[in-house]
Amino acid sequence: MFPEIRLRRLRRTEGLRRMLGQPLPGPEKFIWPVFIREGKGVDEAISAMPGQSRMSVDVLLKRLKPVAESGVGGVLLFGLTDPAKKDANGSEAFNEKGAVQKAIPAIKKAFPQLTVFTDVCLCAYTDHGHCGPLNAAGEVDNDAALTLLQKVAVSHAQAGADCVAPSAMMDGQVLAIREALDEEELTDTLLMSYSSKFASAMYGPFREAEQSAPGKGDRQSYQASYSDLRTALRESEFDEDEGADILMVKPAMMYLDVIHQLRETTDLPVAAYNVSGEYSMLIAQAERGWGDLRAMVRENMAAMQRAGTGIFISYWASRYNELLKD
Ligand code: PBG
Ligand code: ZN
Repeated sequence: MFPEIRLRRLRRTEGLRRMLGQPLPGPEKFIWPVFIREGKGVDEAISAMPGQSRMSVDVLLKRLKPVAESGVGGVLLFGLTDPAKKDANGSEAFNEKGAVQKAIPAIKKAFPQLTVFTDVCLCAYTDHGHCGPLNAAGEVDNDAALTLLQKVAVSHAQAGADCVAPSAMMDGQVLAIREALDEEELTDTLLMSYSSKFASAMYGPFREAEQSAPGKGDRQSYQASYSDLRTALRESEFDEDEGADILMVKPAMMYLDVIHQLRETTDLPVAAYNVSGEYSMLIAQAERGWGDLRAMVRENMAAMQRAGTGIFISYWASRYNELLKD
């Protein structure tokens, strides 16, 4: 105890701080989420997510070059479709000629070193904006959603995705998708489950980007409740039992306790999704001169790492060298 022991001795110099500290995660641990639209030369800025845009594949390939060169490990693809093509089942999500299905082989060809992840959900393709079809009572029909999600995952895997990532929070979706992949002999395709995904107010900017906000109601009947930690952890436990290869906590900043507990209880890789609202809030703060962006981003990533995150899904990946490299 003081005065014999003085902890400040351990951090007096930059050299000591570096020696005792943990380095920030390298770029290979990062996955950059991107929004893909059909067409050519399309590059639409997303006003709620400065620095990110909706792109057609040709533009994405150009943007990916410096990102891949910085050593970032992968991309997570989100597709968009023409609003006129949305329907009750979100069937455009499994169109073999959809934006995502076409982007996968193009990315694999141009950047073989990148691991390609795809978001498997229906909300950007349904006319009502929910993550599954609705039954007569207007509720999301879990088991009907499973059949559709199987088709989406198979279409991505057939296009060459390294990993499919179901985000709909339907019961049994991991098992259903693993079975569908096995049936098509797609046994090498990884499955990363959005396993503990919370009904969060932090997805607002993303819903603007994806034009995927539910028309009526919200997602609280399928996404996990942040006031019920135990059930949220069971969601991940079930997905592990159903055959997920990688588990995920989403969002990240406000859920570090969940990341930590999951890290202690599973031997699967644990990913965390640093979501759109977490991205935009730091940008907004920096823009107002209330914080230094680079310092805030680094502190945020260090916190995720300390909690036990192994894989960082983050929009900051597109600016890795500027913000996270030493
Ligand atoms: C859709 C999906 C969402 C996100 C990823 N997949 C939004 C939602 O559930 O409404 C959020 C990502 C982000 O906010 O960055 N299933
Ligand atoms: Zn969804």
